Amino acid sequence: MRIAMIGTGYVGLVSGACFSDFGHDVVCVDKDARKIELLHQNVMPIYEPGLAELVASNVKAGRLSFTTDLAEGVKGADAVFIAVGTPSRRGDGHADLSYVFAAAEEIVAALDGPAVIVTKSTVPVGTGDEVERIVERIAPAKGIKVVSNPEFLREGAAIADFKRPDRVVVGSEDENASQVMRDIYRPLSLNQSAPVLFTGRRTAELIKYAANAFLAVKITFINEIADLCEQVGADVQEVSRGIGMDNRIGRKFLNAGPGYGGSCFPKDTLALLKTADDNETPLRIVEATVQVNDSRKRAMGRKVIKAMGGEVRGKTVAILGLTFKPNTDDMRDAPSIAIIQTLQDAGATVRAYDPEGVEQAKRVLKDVAFCASPYEAADGADALVIVTEWDEFRALDLGRMKAVLNRPLLVDLRNIYPAEEAKRAGFALIGIGKPAESAPAAA
Ligand code: UDX
Repeated sequence: MRIAMIGTGYVGLVSGACFSDFGHDVVCVDKDARKIELLHQNVMPIYEPGLAELVASNVKAGRLSFTTDLAEGVKGADAVFIAVGTPSRRGDGHADLSYVFAAAEEIVAALDGPAVIVTKSTVPVGTGDEVERIVERIAPAKGIKVVSNPEFLREGAAIADFKRPDRVVVGSEDENASQVMRDIYRPLSLNQSAPVLFTGRRTAELIKYAANAFLAVKITFINEIADLCEQVGADVQEVSRGIGMDNRIGRKFLNAGPGYGGSCFPKDTLALLKTADDNETPLRIVEATVQVNDSRKRAMGRKVIKAMGGEVRGKTVAILGLTFKPNTDDMRDAPSIAIIQTLQDAGATVRAYDPEGVEQAKRVLKDVAFCASPYEAADGADALVIVTEWDEFRALDLGRMKAVLNRPLLVDLRNIYPAEEAKRAGFALIGIGKPAESAPAAA
């Protein structure tokens, strides 16, 4: 199969690289000449484990190439994937589809024969119909079909998620187009690693939003249960285990933490609410989730202040982990932003360490001392706060930490440190959703 991938962001680049690894012939197109130049030098514009190696080997095999020239890239393609950004529109939270429609117009004008246009970007219900209208307007006779194929990969585990997904969803109204999609995903169905679910196009578009919203609800639910655990002396990790063993609930996405962030959940829940509003069908559970998650991030800042005795003016806080989750350099809607602002607003000085996110963090965080190691960040600080659960924070030398800290207080917003371990090392530990016995003495 010949595939053109429009957009080399997270989804586009990972999908393009994985499709070429399946044996397809893939051209990735992006308007950003600097990005394409870097990709020609095998420099990835994003941090994703394993991606540089995957790109290099497929470029070497002659199956993967990069260009800024869309018309050239889509020539002879069986399928053209649109994987451009759909940011939240300033002001109203609707998904901004201008990049999707601009790409669609260019693709339709440039295609030289029948092809399938596939929307991989997360797009609101009805976007496929709009793209079809563009086809009808510009080139009704070329035999171009439009399908929806939402992507469910997670940052940091993107390649594994793409190659071994729980399912592939294809929304198609045309049998020939469905066949092209079947051929593209054949490597997945061959080793029976993933079912390909065919649905109507609008249904596929909604599946993506409903999946993300459901996961956001699940996380927010356990976060609120965590708050209750703290009040009643229960342990949220055991509650998660206990409810997760019920297959109807499932054990994943029940880790309580400082609130979800990232490029998808915050944006997609808002866009879904807009669609719901427009159709006069309010989704009140999703509305509550968005509100609860928004207020949780600053609440986590206040939790740190409380752990430090209620007063942080003139004190220093060491933050470990800035990105919205590990194994990415992505700072979009990261809880660290609101947590750090809350601490600074209360007069604290913030020192921070993150393995990959510092460059991005510098753009959104002001007056933070960025450090080269967790120990440097902790030097002279009055509290150590784990915000993102990078693996390298799981085996900190707590003895060394204690020696450099002003006070041995660990606020673990991801519950990666068992209470006994912290206690043995002489730390007061505050976790999420834990019984109060591990609370520290007042400052
Ligand atoms: C998510 C979806 O998982 C993916 O299917 C979709 O395509 C894009 O959005 P991503 O944003 O990369 O992927 O990260 P994910 O691992 O889902 O985490 C999202 C946020 O939820 C992070 O801030 C994470 O810390 C938080 N989270 C996740 C929790 O707080 N607890 C959990 O149990 C799981």
